Amino acid sequence: MEFFRSAILLVFLLSCFSFSSTDAFDALDPNGNITIKWDVTGWTPDGYVAVVTMFNFQQYRHIQAPGWTLGWTWAKKEVIWNMVGAQTTEQGDCSKFKGNIPHCCKKDPTVVDLLPGTPYNLQVANCCKGGVINSWGQDPETAVSSFQVSVGAAGTTNKTVRVPKNFTLKAPGPGYTCGPAKIVKPTKFVTNDGRRVTQAMMTWNITCTYSQFLAQKTPTCCVSLSAFYNDTIVPCPTCTCGCQKNGTHHGNCVDQDEPHLASVVSGLGKNNYSPLVQCTNHMCPIRIHWHVKLNYKEYWRVKVTITNFNYNMNYTQWNLVVQHPNFDNLTQLFSFHYKSLTPYGAINDTAMLWGMKFYNDLLMNAGPLGNVQSELLFRKDLSTFTFDKGWAFPLRVYFNGDNCVMPPPDSYPYMPNAGTVRKVSSLKLVVTLILSTAFFFAFV
Ligand SMILES: *[C@@H]1O[C@H](CO)[C@@H](O)[C@H](O)[C@H]1NC(C)=O
Ligand SMILES: *[C@@H]1O[C@H](CO)[C@@H](O)[C@H](O)[C@H]1NC(C)=O
Ligand SMILES: *[C@@H]1O[C@H](CO)[C@@H](O)[C@H](O)[C@H]1NC(C)=O
Ligand SMILES: *[C@@H]1O[C@H](CO)[C@@H](O)[C@H](O)[C@H]1NC(C)=O
Ligand SMILES: *[C@@H]1O[C@H](CO)[C@@H](O)[C@H](O)[C@H]1NC(C)=O
Ligand SMILES: *[C@@H]1O[C@H](CO)[C@@H](O)[C@H](O)[C@H]1NC(C)=O
Ligand SMILES: *[C@@H]1O[C@H](CO)[C@@H](O)[C@H](O)[C@H]1NC(C)=O
Ligand SMILES: *[C@@H]1O[C@H](CO)[C@@H](O)[C@H](O)[C@H]1NC(C)=O
Ligand SMILES: *[C@@H]1O[C@H](CO)[C@@H](O)[C@H](O)[C@H]1NC(C)=O
Repeated sequence: MEFFRSAILLVFLLSCFSFSSTDAFDALDPNGNITIKWDVTGWTPDGYVAVVTMFNFQQYRHIQAPGWTLGWTWAKKEVIWNMVGAQTTEQGDCSKFKGNIPHCCKKDPTVVDLLPGTPYNLQVANCCKGGVINSWGQDPETAVSSFQVSVGAAGTTNKTVRVPKNFTLKAPGPGYTCGPAKIVKPTKFVTNDGRRVTQAMMTWNITCTYSQFLAQKTPTCCVSLSAFYNDTIVPCPTCTCGCQKNGTHHGNCVDQDEPHLASVVSGLGKNNYSPLVQCTNHMCPIRIHWHVKLNYKEYWRVKVTITNFNYNMNYTQWNLVVQHPNFDNLTQLFSFHYKSLTPYGAINDTAMLWGMKFYNDLLMNAGPLGNVQSELLFRKDLSTFTFDKGWAFPLRVYFNGDNCVMPPPDSYPYMPNAGTVRKVSSLKLVVTLILSTAFFFAFV
């Protein structure tokens, strides 16, 4: 079990390390990316018509309201004559055009999705969801977003068309970095009846990856712990996501008992990207509480509570990723959906949890309704099960794809009679360290 303790420590250190790195690598979703595919489906007198499709191949990171914003820079003097299923936010200077006026003349157009309820003649398949895209793990059917664009002054053969440059994806804030467009084999489309295959004139792909560090410099989520065998509730580390300003005017947070709470909160924009948090010691918009609730002979039970401290945000289609060695024997789960994530195939210790549609898939803004909870029942594997040394607590927790800061391992609640703390064999610790480092670097 000393082995286990040093493993926790190591994961803790690694998670600190990975947070301070701008590297987009995510150990729990090593191939996660958003791929943007442009299929040129036809030529026009002065350019082409393309269907642009965004695939969110990430296991658990979705794009929630107010949705994605896609930008690029044209390689030549292209204009957008028309768009279906999306629109540019600005038209730009089209003054040199007479007669037909383009939809957008900007060198660097910025595109947003249309809202639900758009008239049918302005829609294409997979459009018009207000820029919301689910994650591949949660629902591949809704993890795709498309629009159609008609480009002028662009060249009308696959030799003269230049791919757009400098793609930017906001979802809705920063966090994604997009690579260059790469010309790939033209996509083949099979008709609905499966009896005919058509082919794009030309296809290019852009891959965008996420880095939590680019998205925000501070964490957004923390974990607190408790257990039936110990009265101590181990809180989120103080100042995890920021510190309260002193004095009577908190300024950067809202006091729960504030008499004018309603007016303070309603004076602000809804679903604003910058959080307005309730004053807490940790100042995080989201807290995950893991409570080891019951111990049966063959099973044990955990209660997980997600609390929203952000007055500015309703989290739609939220998800939680939890790593714990007992997830290979999860027996029952109440009121959440569950999917096993096996980033490296063999180790089945990571789970994605999310809410049930119309029941708890909406995590309401801070206040009495701002929480969701579930209970997990695990079957004990007697060769590994223990309440000792924090084994019952998760190794890693992510909320909406962002790492949640855990309390330091030496503060975990422990069993009253587990006082016989043996000295950690330093040899074992060194071996663990080397092995895990090797494991870590093998995937960097
Ligand atoms: C993007 O994700 C897909 C699906 O997981 C994967 O097949 C593809 O190789 C990834 N692309 C890159 C550039 O990593
Ligand atoms: C362009 O078209 C020609 C002939 O139709 C084809 O051989 C070539 O591979 C195409 N090039 C690209 C980049 O698609
Ligand atoms: C790419 O886009 C970013 C942001 O829109 C801009 O700051 C940068 O100058 C652009 N780079 C090029 C080469 O156009
Ligand atoms: C381009 O993206 C599409 C859609 O994700 C994918 O099916 C295709 O394999 C990609 N092509 C390459 C060469 O990555
Ligand atoms: C803020 O509070 C901390 C401890 O609560 C104290 O050490 C510090 O002096 C205070 N700063 C100001 C400006 O009041
Ligand atoms: C969250 O949803 C509730 C119910 O739909 C609504 O009353 C509230 O204003 C929303 N809050 C925000 C911040 O959008
Ligand atoms: C992982 O564990 C879950 C829960 O016991 C099980 O349903 C799933 O089949 C396992 N997956 C693999 C790849 O072993
Ligand atoms: C727990 O899961 C592992 C891997 O799926 C399996 O080998 C083992 O027998 C299970 N243990 C119990 C007690 O069900
Ligand atoms: C409960 O756990 C805390 C934190 O690790 C520890 O300080 C305390 O002594 C434990 N309480 C008992 C009764 O063992």
